[in-house]
Amino acid sequence: MSTPKYPLLDPIRLGDIDLPNRIIMASMTRARTDNPDFIPNVLQAQYYAQRASAGLILTEGTWPNRDGVGFVNVPGLYTQAQADGWRRVTDAVHQAGGRIFVQLGHIGSSSHPDLLDGALPYAPSPVNPGLKAYTTAGFKDTVTPQAMDLSDIARTVDDYARAAHLAQSAGFDGVELHGISTYLIPTFLYEGLNQRTDDYGGTPDNRARFALEIIDALVNSWAPGRVGIKLSPGLTGVGKFIATAETLATFEHLIGQLSKRHLAYLQLMNPINDLTGTGVEILGQDVARHFRPLYSGTLIANGGYTFETGNALVRDGFADAVAFGAPFISNPDLVERYGNGLTISPSNRDTYYGGGAEGYVDYPSATELDGIR
Ligand SMILES: Cc1cc2nc3c(=O)[nH]c(=O)nc-3n(C[C@H](O)[C@H](O)[C@H](O)COP(=O)(O)O)c2cc1C
Repeated sequence: MSTPKYPLLDPIRLGDIDLPNRIIMASMTRARTDNPDFIPNVLQAQYYAQRASAGLILTEGTWPNRDGVGFVNVPGLYTQAQADGWRRVTDAVHQAGGRIFVQLGHIGSSSHPDLLDGALPYAPSPVNPGLKAYTTAGFKDTVTPQAMDLSDIARTVDDYARAAHLAQSAGFDGVELHGISTYLIPTFLYEGLNQRTDDYGGTPDNRARFALEIIDALVNSWAPGRVGIKLSPGLTGVGKFIATAETLATFEHLIGQLSKRHLAYLQLMNPINDLTGTGVEILGQDVARHFRPLYSGTLIANGGYTFETGNALVRDGFADAVAFGAPFISNPDLVERYGNGLTISPSNRDTYYGGGAEGYVDYPSATELDGIR
């Protein structure tokens, strides 16, 4: 058999579902949920349906419970009204021929009391992450969070399971666990932020326990082939999120354990900065190369890829698919553009977050552009 020219255009079976191509739309918070109950709206249904030719759409990060909220105008999936709002989105995407997973993420100590009716955010330990939280009054410094006790941990795991149940009832094809950036899960993985001395801290397997308990709860709530996870092992130098050799050992342990669970996929996001001189320099810019030998299931690479570099990574066997973020903002028909060698339109960063239709659902497809010219 000859090697296909563009492996990203090949179909793939991802857990329990079939994808027509390996060009995945990465999760992107766009902050268009303009109501106090965190219910996705009609505009969001239109936005995702426009991007239905992606092999798989991953929604914006979505709150699995009320105390996981940490940003304005971002939707949740912990009430029936939210699930009903999401049903509009999944119906629109399916009618347009697409597939969609919801990304579930508790933000942890990156939130602020202003977003939590005055309550302190949750974290493994009372360590201020040293970040800025985006509140209704603009950016504010993060605070010292409250340490989760064992019942808080158990309740949070249950909340994820419940959100997965709601996702299923809302018509999603699966769920992705948000394990990147400065959210709650990474807070457990970095030893500078997790100072626990119980079963959830102190060693790589203890620090990975919370993430694995959530994964197992999602799997039990639905099925392994309906659950994916996104991690960013190259994240370092952001507030108190400083990665060391110990952090790397934690990620290696976690990914080894995930490999045993036959999930839909593991998605690995590349670092956002140069790792030279950091504790995780060994990861380089393509983290999938480091972790591929540890993970036997479907691996999705993400972060800074073009159609050419993404195809090369898959061809070289370091990933099975590639998730694209920013290119999907301004190219709703990204798959068609890549497949036909068409021009990729640049996106306007000023309209990434918040606002309405502008910079959200008004980017034309290449065919529409031709009509405009
Ligand atoms: C506007 C914007 C919002 C984002 N929001 C999320 C998010 O909610 N969840 C997430 O996992 N990643 C989020 N990301 C990161 C993207 O999913 C992706 O990992 C990143 O953009 C790198 O991929 P790219 O180089 O193809 O854009 C966001 C990125 C952008 C540009």
